[in-house]
Amino acid sequence: MAATAVDSGIQRTASAVDYSDVQGLVRFGYGKLTESCFLLLNIRDAAAARSWLATAPVTNAVQLDQASPTALQIAFTHEGLQSLQVPDEVLAGFSAEFLTGMAGEESRSRRLGDVGANAPEYWQWGGSGRVPHIVLMLYAQPGKLEGWTLAIQEANWNAAFEVVTCLLTSNLDGIEPFGFADGISQPALDWERQRKPAKNELAYGNLAALGEFLMGYPNEYSKYTDRPLLAPDAPGSTALPPAEDVANQRDLGRNGTYVVFRQLQQDVRGFWRFLDAQTNSDPQARQSMGEDMVGRKMDGEPLVELSDDPIAGIDPGTTPHNQFTYNSDADGLSCPFGAHVRRANPRNADLPPGSSGLLSKALHTFGFGNKQYRDDIIASTRFHRVLRRGREYGPGLSPEQAIQTNVSDPGEHGIYFICLNANISRQFEFVQNAWIMSTKFDAMTEESDPLLGNRQPVAGCPFTDTFSVPQVEGLRTRITGLPQFVTVKGGAYFFLPSLSALRYLAAVR
Ligand code: HEM
Repeated sequence: MAATAVDSGIQRTASAVDYSDVQGLVRFGYGKLTESCFLLLNIRDAAAARSWLATAPVTNAVQLDQASPTALQIAFTHEGLQSLQVPDEVLAGFSAEFLTGMAGEESRSRRLGDVGANAPEYWQWGGSGRVPHIVLMLYAQPGKLEGWTLAIQEANWNAAFEVVTCLLTSNLDGIEPFGFADGISQPALDWERQRKPAKNELAYGNLAALGEFLMGYPNEYSKYTDRPLLAPDAPGSTALPPAEDVANQRDLGRNGTYVVFRQLQQDVRGFWRFLDAQTNSDPQARQSMGEDMVGRKMDGEPLVELSDDPIAGIDPGTTPHNQFTYNSDADGLSCPFGAHVRRANPRNADLPPGSSGLLSKALHTFGFGNKQYRDDIIASTRFHRVLRRGREYGPGLSPEQAIQTNVSDPGEHGIYFICLNANISRQFEFVQNAWIMSTKFDAMTEESDPLLGNRQPVAGCPFTDTFSVPQVEGLRTRITGLPQFVTVKGGAYFFLPSLSALRYLAAVR
């Protein structure tokens, strides 16, 4: 079915999403396919790689086939597209951050917090000269991963690729290695294309315009994110769908998106031992301090009251733990301002408390009005959402095991942080830089994310190792000397093409 939308004077035809052209990961997390591995590949021979890609059994987003034992997704770095000999003029249409790469320039590394022990020079992969060309994401039912990994290595595989590394995941039943329930809050994608974001929309909603997560569709600004468009006579372009917003152009980005992939090692022992020392080994106080740092209880329950008001895109029946804003907690007494989830998605923190009137909203939006503690406008969260698709690695270790000194650590722990977004700089990089790493978030000082902070000094702020917890009476409690709990071990930006773009990439040269 096609509907016509008019925006900025451009007449567009808003056609229904062709799920058979979208890689399934955009729509599904493949939670039932509990075994997975991420194969990082380099291309040995472009022609052999193209012929393998032309018939690769990539899983689409048509439906979540519960009976299907496996799934495969494919994404490319800039270096990978270059190795496939994609023409320069086509590559030029990708975003600057994708072309430069996650570790491609010092200023980006600084903004992402990839300095000190996080610096790309120490990464196991993804640093200078070590950016893989392709990530193959393989998912399988228990016991089926090994067979699936072998099954895809057929035809031209050996001639085509060199395996850089195989990142194996572990199944911790939805609990990340520190021991907290994860994957609870996700944006809801407007697959039906019903959302019409209003200008100056201020209320928190969870329903996101499709263009935030898939290229080729209007985003939260009602605009189309920049992406490579090809002239109709460009070689191979007829394999691609027409662009909705520019007449006579073929859309290489439509139904594709970018993947941010970071290997984040977690010092589970360091985390719980630090908390244990801070709380005089009181198990309840230790857990409660950890929950303050995350911003949710260990089982995922929010620290703030659930909201009675409906929130667009949240179904309290299916995701009850997500039915909240920070309206009821303007002073951070239930969930500290600096908690990980409050930084990563401040929800309705766009406006300071007491600013519900129209005049007040206008004053604050334009930066007038009295400045008080936490009276800064954070930015409308709807422009800065990410769709998380990460997986854990390493064995599980409970807080009790972590604090024991007589038990040896069974191995490395961490998450492969994977998120999807159509605009890496406005979505992932903004969240990582302005909210997670920032020492100025929500008018705080000397602190960054309690889980993810690198504790490195930044200009004008020699200490970043504090975590403060507002109190009902008196000053905030300040915990100082936080060690680094999470270390970046690798990472890259990838392009996750549509199925038609994959066919184009397998043919073009
Ligand atoms: C080892 C690293 C990390 C750990 C242990 C971690 C842990 C968690 C946990 C336990 C939650 C609560 C569960 C949920 O709401 O789904 C959460 C939520 C979230 N995290 Fe992380 N996280 C990590 C890295 C990151 C990074 C690098 C980002 C983004 C740059 C991020 C963004 C988010 C977002 C957006 C949410 C949902 C917040 C909400 O909508 O309320 N996380 N994380």
